[in-house]
Amino acid sequence: MRRILVTSALPYANGPIHIGHMVEHVQTDIWVRFQRLRGHEVWSVCADDTHGTPIMLRAEAEGITPEQLIERMHAEHLRDFRDFGISYDNYHSTHSPENRELSQDLYRRLDQAGLISRRVIDQFYDPVREMFLPDRYIRGSCPRCGTEDQYGDSCENCGATYSPTELGNPVSVLSGATPVRRESEHHFFRLGEAESFLREWTTGKGRLQPEAANKLDEWFDAGLRDWDISRDAPYFGFEIPDAPGKFLYVWLDAPVGYMASFRNLCEREKGLDFDSWWAPGSDAELYHFIGKDILYFHALFWPATLHFGGYRTPTGVNVHGFLTVDGQKMSKSRGTFITAREYLNHLDPQYLRYYFAAKLNEHIEDIDLNLDDFVMRVNSNIVGKYVNIASRSAGFINKQFDGRLADELDAEGRQLLDRGQGLAEEIAEGYETRRFGETMRRIMDLADEANEYINRNKPWELAKQPGAELRLQQVCSTNLEMFRLLTLYLKPVIPGIVEAAEQFLNIPALNWADASRAMGAHTIAGYRHLAQRVETDKVTAMVEASRPKQTTDRTAKDADPRHIGIEQFTDVDLRIARIVVAEPVDGADKLLRLQLDVGELGERQVFAGIKQAYPAEALADRLVVLVANLAPRKMRFGVSEGMVLAAGPGGAEIFLLAPDSGAQPGMRVK
Ligand code: MSP
Ligand code: ZN
Repeated sequence: MRRILVTSALPYANGPIHIGHMVEHVQTDIWVRFQRLRGHEVWSVCADDTHGTPIMLRAEAEGITPEQLIERMHAEHLRDFRDFGISYDNYHSTHSPENRELSQDLYRRLDQAGLISRRVIDQFYDPVREMFLPDRYIRGSCPRCGTEDQYGDSCENCGATYSPTELGNPVSVLSGATPVRRESEHHFFRLGEAESFLREWTTGKGRLQPEAANKLDEWFDAGLRDWDISRDAPYFGFEIPDAPGKFLYVWLDAPVGYMASFRNLCEREKGLDFDSWWAPGSDAELYHFIGKDILYFHALFWPATLHFGGYRTPTGVNVHGFLTVDGQKMSKSRGTFITAREYLNHLDPQYLRYYFAAKLNEHIEDIDLNLDDFVMRVNSNIVGKYVNIASRSAGFINKQFDGRLADELDAEGRQLLDRGQGLAEEIAEGYETRRFGETMRRIMDLADEANEYINRNKPWELAKQPGAELRLQQVCSTNLEMFRLLTLYLKPVIPGIVEAAEQFLNIPALNWADASRAMGAHTIAGYRHLAQRVETDKVTAMVEASRPKQTTDRTAKDADPRHIGIEQFTDVDLRIARIVVAEPVDGADKLLRLQLDVGELGERQVFAGIKQAYPAEALADRLVVLVANLAPRKMRFGVSEGMVLAAGPGGAEIFLLAPDSGAQPGMRVK
């Protein structure tokens, strides 16, 4: 018996599970379920990846703590996976005591092994938000081609990659402020020290797909650079031991989450011993299923940190490609960014599992969900080929033979069943090597043979022929034996349908060894339909529901496009503000700089085009109405953080709105 530990990549806790993620979880789950059917000791674990800047900022934007956000996400993710029949033994969180301990300990071990270096680096810092800015949160013009509004690490126009310090006119995405350079000491993992170990590790048999190994060669050729594993506060993550204000970068503690989830499982499962799975030289197998975008982390950083941290390394890293829908990247506006939940609201999860299986193979290619093909394939294969075998035979056996199968099959039936049983090892090999698409074709070919057998023997005619009872019973029994065999072969893929099929057949849960057996003289239960056809309008409805709602849809009471709903109005955060300072702006003949007191919202700076209508001195202390949630805008003179309401055509004819006395700064206008 093999001992196998399997993981899927840990989904980020800042968004919902979508059908792209499901490719991975379905692929993993099929493999895991297959190994369990083979009788091996298999554990599969996953977790939410909860740390890092995006999660911290999203929580802040929602006005909740990161802990609250990740707790809500965890509950949602867990439900999604459960409802898709993904059979994790544990679905944990990287924000857990186990992970804290293991991650900090791993850091210490690496440090002791001399693999951590420290040096001061210069980084962009947002003076308004008082935090260092990750590259993604800085925009500016491309140093190579000059295109404006590009991310801090690469240009969408010319494809150049660079460091954010090279950007022209950099702006913080968070505040609109101009970031300043600031020094800070960072901690680095000295990846270069791991080169000879990694070169050897990556060539291990079955460790990486050939495409992945090629990619690694490119990385080796480019040289392995030190990896920055620290982040400065504020950061949602784990503190670096003995380094106040420094946190472990999320990608350091994320894969440790695999171990942490397993350790947490060990606390529940008697006799499951952490060390015998993770100590160097462990004879247990360890496989990670991941997408192609995170290969670098899993094939370089992770094995290196494990090895030098004194742990065993993965047996294999299995990489898949990305999901496209109808040939294109998933897109919100096209309605193809489909969340797991939205899919479940409309369609049976067993169908997507089957479809993905039919498309997946052992390579890293992207896989396409073609929605028409999805409907067609599910209907023709699952319903038309597989389920049909049962529904064409069950009625006769139930009505005419009290559910009893024939004691023996006839020669033709015996031969067909032998052939089907003879495929067991080949199909097993297909699952083992993740050639799922090919395996589904092989299984459906067998279903075709079974249906041809039915068509040749025509039970519906036998049922009308006097004296053909035994033949009828034998033919239908052959069909149900074939159905049982196909049920077993499909069990890793569509466990939900299989469970209902096992009940109908009135048999204990099937295992792979059952392939060489048959039901023989046996009584089945009553038949109830095992799978509905997919209707195209359900797919259409799912796509529609996945499109962003027009805001007017939310509350508009009528179809008049000129009307808005009340929510659209209340989306605008209007506030009473008191002008604290009003002053001219050098080089701007229309603008005044207003410093506003907005009560609970603090002070705001707004540049208003009212200079020709109001002398600056006349404005101090008066009340105005401010649009407080307008995105901050960077202007030549500074950032404008809102807009003051006024009427009139412009120039000297501008009339500020004035609240009646008694209104206080910060009050909402509604
Ligand atoms: N949190 C990291 C993984 C940490 S593992 C220690 C992460 N999270 S993710 O939510 O962005 O992605 C999780 C997994 O889903 C990754 O393996 C990723 O490749 C996969 N996919 C995300 N979108 C996908 C598609 N559209 N198609 C297929 N897989 C996709 O990366
Ligand atoms: Zn460019």
